[in-house]
Amino acid sequence: MTEQRVAIVTGAAQGIGAAIAKELAADGVTVVVADINAEGAEKVAAEIGGTAASQKLDISDEANVAQAVKEVEDEFGRIDILVNNAGLVPFTPWDEMTFEGWKRTFNVNANGLFLMTKAVGDVMKKAGYGRIVNISSNTFVAGTPNCADYVATKGAVIGFTRALAGEIGKHGITINAVAPGIIASEGVFTTGHGNGFDYVVPMQAFGRRGVPADIAPAVAFLASEKAAWITGQTLVVDGGHTRN
Ligand SMILES: NC(=O)c1ccc[n+]([C@@H]2O[C@H](COP(=O)([O-])OP(=O)(O)OC[C@H]3O[C@@H](n4cnc5c(N)ncnc54)[C@H](O)[C@@H]3O)[C@@H](O)[C@H]2O)c1
Repeated sequence: MTEQRVAIVTGAAQGIGAAIAKELAADGVTVVVADINAEGAEKVAAEIGGTAASQKLDISDEANVAQAVKEVEDEFGRIDILVNNAGLVPFTPWDEMTFEGWKRTFNVNANGLFLMTKAVGDVMKKAGYGRIVNISSNTFVAGTPNCADYVATKGAVIGFTRALAGEIGKHGITINAVAPGIIASEGVFTTGHGNGFDYVVPMQAFGRRGVPADIAPAVAFLASEKAAWITGQTLVVDGGHTRN
């Protein structure tokens, strides 16, 4: 690949997504910072500068996804990389969990991932090339409590990644997952998950809190040419918290 590659990073207005967008841009990729929070997305794109662009996108809205992906294809003529990062991270003990809440989490974390992969996958198929990286979570390995809906969606991400790899490899597309451990993002401190550092950090191999920049290089690697022979895999990036 000698031409400049183009990436869409969802949920990139803050946290892990913003760090991924910055990492890819540093690798010379033209990044579309896509988020339901348009103002935040604009701010991150401005921080990156250069060829970076921003887009208001609700990954759970089928019509919005179709329109947004078309806009990127029309503007740049290609979409080489999709990072499915946008997600809801609710903190809900089982006794308080409702079917409405369960569906809300699935609507973004699983349905949104489907919609984005379908729409961008079609563009990649035409080009015969693509790199898809899905953000799962090590909560699927650890079975973290107080978020059964969330953990179920993050298991779905891994199952989807494994299953789809065998179907889209013939189009030159790889699909992999990165499963972060607890990370000090903006979002994590808005829920009870923010208290999780107290018991997770002592279980890690390193005695500090993980930050968004700890996750981004793994994603950039899987999105690079160097990862051409890797597909259908999940890379756990959690400072040694879980070891599978
Ligand atoms: N922070 C952690 O501890 C942690 C650990 C493991 C996995 N993850 C995963 O990493 C990803 C990012 O997490 P984070 O902690 O940076 O989250 P965050 O809450 O800080 O940021 C999430 C971003 O996604 C956007 N978003 C939410 N719904 C959207 C939608 N429907 N369409 C488009 N954008 C939407 C938000 O506006 C926000 O900018 C998520 O998939 C999360 O499950 C996070």
